[in-house]
Amino acid sequence: MTTQLSDLESQLATLKQDAQQTVADANSLEELEQLRLKYLGKKGSLSQVLGGMGKLDAAERPRIGALANEVKEAVQAALDQRRSALQAAKIEAQLESETLDVTMPGVYRPQGHTHPLTSTIERAIDIFVGLGYTVAEGPEMETDYYNFEALNTPADHPARDMADTFYLPDGNLLRTHTSSVQIRYMENNEPPIRIVAPGRVYRRDTVDATHTAVFHQIEILAVDEGLTFTDLKGTIKVFLEAMFGECPIRFRPSFFPFTEPSAEVDLQWRGRWLEVMGCGMVDPNVLKAVGYDPEVYTGFAAGFGVERLAQVLHQLDDIRRLYNSDLRFLRQF
Ligand code: DAH
Repeated sequence: MTTQLSDLESQLATLKQDAQQTVADANSLEELEQLRLKYLGKKGSLSQVLGGMGKLDAAERPRIGALANEVKEAVQAALDQRRSALQAAKIEAQLESETLDVTMPGVYRPQGHTHPLTSTIERAIDIFVGLGYTVAEGPEMETDYYNFEALNTPADHPARDMADTFYLPDGNLLRTHTSSVQIRYMENNEPPIRIVAPGRVYRRDTVDATHTAVFHQIEILAVDEGLTFTDLKGTIKVFLEAMFGECPIRFRPSFFPFTEPSAEVDLQWRGRWLEVMGCGMVDPNVLKAVGYDPEVYTGFAAGFGVERLAQVLHQLDDIRRLYNSDLRFLRQF
């Protein structure tokens, strides 16, 4: 045996041992690929060792060739084995990290809910819808005609005063009540009608505990043959009881240009009478304005402030709380 031969043999043996050791210690698939290149690649250790074969006798070459093959296979086997082990470990780790423990306490996320004004409106509407009423709406920017004129409110009526009404530069105005919806609806529909009309209204009021410049009203209107003040009273009573439960109410004679007779309704709250709505029998002039024959039809109407109802419903001392978006307040409802 020549020295070169035994030299090559021992180099191959070292290579094999070395490779098997480092491959077994590899910690990632990337590292493993580096090792494959290092040992078995074109410019890897095995090729380098085999480069020395040129110096061997032709007779000795097959022996080294066979040995080299065996080393190559052994290193390849080590690589394969380690690769499967690393891949299995990787899947294991992934499964582990993606496991969902359904018994763990969840993360609390605060949930929004309906604003007390909205829920008051919804509650009132539900009651009237239950009584056969249909929801109607109208614009917040109104003409003088719908807000006043057609509602039998003469030009010299104090409600038309600049001090009460927001007039717009173009002569229109921001509606001061939802009664304007009565006219718009009657113009486009024939009796019998029963509508409930919620919406925002505007007044030049100084803001205090019971007044805001923008607030909400709900209007109801019923027109049919033979409706009487008794129907109005019954409807209001049923509504207020559905809203607040059994509670003392009283009707007080009052005046509104668009109703005759007119009344205001008070509710007993915290030991005193609180005015909650205006109402009355629709004035014949209003029916005439929309082309209804007042000899055939009669109607009743009512309008009430939503803030006031919410105040009673939720025992609020100051309605401004409904508007300043203080979550400590709003979360209570
Ligand atoms: N529009 C009146 C107001 O804002 C409330 C009102 C009173 C409405 C009597 C009506 C009614 O429909 O009949 O003060």
